[in-house]
Amino acid sequence: MTHRLVIGITGASGSLYARKMLQVLSAMPGELHLIVSNMGRQVLAHEMQIPELGIGGFVRSLAEGSSPAADIVIHDNYDMFEPVASGSFKTSGMVIIPCSMKTLSAVATGYSHDLISRAADVTLKEKRPLVLVTRETPLSLVHLKNMCAAAEAGATVMPASPGFYNHPQSIDDLVEYMVGRVLDHLNIEIPGMARWGDV
Ligand SMILES: Cc1cc2nc3c(=O)[nH]c(=O)nc-3n(C[C@H](O)[C@H](O)[C@H](O)COP(=O)(O)O)c2cc1C
Repeated sequence: MTHRLVIGITGASGSLYARKMLQVLSAMPGELHLIVSNMGRQVLAHEMQIPELGIGGFVRSLAEGSSPAADIVIHDNYDMFEPVASGSFKTSGMVIIPCSMKTLSAVATGYSHDLISRAADVTLKEKRPLVLVTRETPLSLVHLKNMCAAAEAGATVMPASPGFYNHPQSIDDLVEYMVGRVLDHLNIEIPGMARWGDV
């Protein structure tokens, strides 16, 4: 069975992770439900040094020159009538990549003020995998307590901190490895991913 995954992109630094995740997943059969916060869109445009295309344009630009295998559905972050706002819409899980400290706090407290935090809340209550790829440094006690609360509620908190033990040769290697580890926690395998212990 193919996956049906919810992907939230928020305004933390680390758009490269979101882009790689979309590139990898759009090449596989599956259903992707994408929600981008307002700041997610702005930070992404800034870091990618692209004009603010709107997320539809961004997704199309990723797919340029290839025929995506996945079905990609883009949702409005302020439309609570979207299917991902309900637990009865079955998904295989959700990832927020990158996840800002603001959205982390919403997830940790159940303050479902937008579709990303509502879909995350639903993912937790339905006991489906929820991965939060957080990015901030240093971390205040508020951030740490929110991570702790999210983890206690069942989320997997995966700060964007790639390892160096596989001798990465490029930023792309670092990003791909991080995305691969995130997908491990969503039970999705990237073919050919370098792993410790592989010969
Ligand atoms: C260029 C830029 C980089 C940012 N990087 C981070 C970051 O790494 N982590 C973070 O928690 N917030 C970061 N922020 C702040 C968030 O964008 C801000 O808190 C925003 O309200 C998050 O909203 P959202 O979670 O709805 O996207 C950054 C903002 C800008 C403009």
